[in-house]
Amino acid sequence: ALDEAREAIAVHARMVADFPKPGIAFKDLTPVLADPVGLSSVVTALTHGCRGIDLVAGIDARGFLLGGAVARELEVGVLAVRKGGKLPPPVHSVDYTLEYGTASLEIPASGIDITGQRVLLVDDVLATGGTAVAAAELLQRAGAHVVGVAVIMELDGLGGRATIADGLGADLPVHA
Ligand code: PRP
Ligand code: MG
Repeated sequence: ALDEAREAIAVHARMVADFPKPGIAFKDLTPVLADPVGLSSVVTALTHGCRGIDLVAGIDARGFLLGGAVARELEVGVLAVRKGGKLPPPVHSVDYTLEYGTASLEIPASGIDITGQRVLLVDDVLATGGTAVAAAELLQRAGAHVVGVAVIMELDGLGGRATIADGLGADLPVHA
């Protein structure tokens, strides 16, 4: 599945220069996920080597597409980590810096209890790592253990892995 996923990404991914701002190279994985072999191979690849996961967390918005599918594959539930302002109170909230701007992420502080759960964090792309670290901090604040980060694609030169190692510990597995 790893080779199949690499092939699907090589064939279908679209790189767009200067979007959404000048100097940003936008990675559009939409065509990969719209392809049946692309989606299936990528979801299988994301679960590669995963053991003992209790819950998958998918990050708003592109991580949602993957989070539900990965959770189904691992036969666990899924939690949406939302951008700020989407959820009713009470919420856990964290501000973070993005490749292009600032934002906040939230999860419910009521109605679910993820205390002690082993969570796999799923997103499409790892760039600076700010989003992943913020999402992980949020889950930790709710009492969960983030035991891995899985993304389709890691961008070179933006220090995402180092940021995750700094923020979440060098022994946290990051699978791209
Ligand atoms: C993109 C991407 C990752 C994040 C990676 O999401 O989907 O979530 O940026 O960047 P980082 O590693 O530098 O934090 P974006 O916030 O653009 O929004 P979207 O998923 O809602 O499109
Ligand atoms: Mg995103």
